[in-house]
Amino acid sequence: MDDNKIPDVVDARVSRFVSNIEVSAIKGMAMRAAAVEDAASLTWGLPSFRTPAHIRAAVETQLEADPQIGKYALPDGLPELRSLIAKTHKSATGIEVNPDRNVHVTCGNMQGLNALFHVLLDPGDEVIVTDPGFASHFQQIRMVGATPVFWPMDETNGWSLDVEALSTLIGPRTKAIVLVTPSNPTGKIFREDELRRIGEIARSHSVTILLDDPYSHYTYENTDIYFNLASAPELQDTLVYLFTFSKTYAMSGWRLGYMILSEVLKKQVIKVHDATIICTPRISQAAGLAALGEEPVHLAKFEAVLSKRRDLICGRLDALPHVFDYVRPEGAYYVFPRILIEHDSSMEFAMRLLQEAKVVVTPGAAFGPTGENHVRMAFCVDEQTIDIAFDRIESLFGR
Ligand SMILES: Cc1ncc(COP(=O)(O)O)c(C=O)c1O
Repeated sequence: MDDNKIPDVVDARVSRFVSNIEVSAIKGMAMRAAAVEDAASLTWGLPSFRTPAHIRAAVETQLEADPQIGKYALPDGLPELRSLIAKTHKSATGIEVNPDRNVHVTCGNMQGLNALFHVLLDPGDEVIVTDPGFASHFQQIRMVGATPVFWPMDETNGWSLDVEALSTLIGPRTKAIVLVTPSNPTGKIFREDELRRIGEIARSHSVTILLDDPYSHYTYENTDIYFNLASAPELQDTLVYLFTFSKTYAMSGWRLGYMILSEVLKKQVIKVHDATIICTPRISQAAGLAALGEEPVHLAKFEAVLSKRRDLICGRLDALPHVFDYVRPEGAYYVFPRILIEHDSSMEFAMRLLQEAKVVVTPGAAFGPTGENHVRMAFCVDEQTIDIAFDRIESLFGR
């Protein structure tokens, strides 16, 4: 789609901005797959793990013990949770933040970003996103009448970013840059020097960095190369850090996250939050208190399981060199192979896999123009599903 052109309204009752967006291809494929019996799905980044037992137990207790549990909370979150978040952030980044002025509890990073886009963007503004990048970010940006500007990643160089090209993408309407590291869908971990340079460029142009962090705990053997840009003291006014409990704590259904942001932005975000969702459910905040209140000992196990699945899926891809070429993911739990088999588009290829092999993948075009001719495969599903999916792909295309 040409991002500068808002298409004709499909129905006179529907706003042009909403007409201009789509259900993400991830959910679109998941919905198509639901209609296919026995489909092997690698489409949705939904970890197979249960929310850890101590979090579930704490919530059960709170549900009985706390007479306020079913009531609204303050719009920016429970004070005790905000204090615990400030403590967690200090130990993760070394940065001291004020729980009242700089911490905001959200219903996950999607909701946090949506509030931020409302705060930062007017129709016609621009937001720089990596290409490939997370499909739902693009829809959120378009939903407020703004335009995603794609910043291509270089597959031949391990999905790296051309950092110096960033300045050329920044124009008078650029308001923000969205970063995800490790990246969805490529699994790339951006290096410290690259991130620091991005920070420098953003700061010099007064462009806000939105650091969306679902995957920083999934870095496998690459933990040493992971760098959290929120730990740069000079960027405290330039950067908003968004953490979600969805993946780290297997809490995607609880809808819980938080933002660390400047006081100026927090004051604006509260208005949007209040006008749209009022507050994050108390019950989810109780889960958050339990999650941050203990060492995340479950993470070593989660990561070990995911690491095994990454080896499995990479091994299965290696056995199909005539079908796929791929860059081994450094983190997160996605791999983004290039399609070598003849095909019309990534969508046509994904539909063929669904119809002829009952295998569900996400077409790469959903993640930006550079994503065309690729598919995204999520390896957070159990090993059996990965094996079934690849057995079927092998039956379709041969070994
Ligand atoms: C990059 C990225 N951001 C945000 C989300 C959604 O986060 P949340 O569940 O906190 O809304 C996802 C989920 O897949 C994601 O990959």
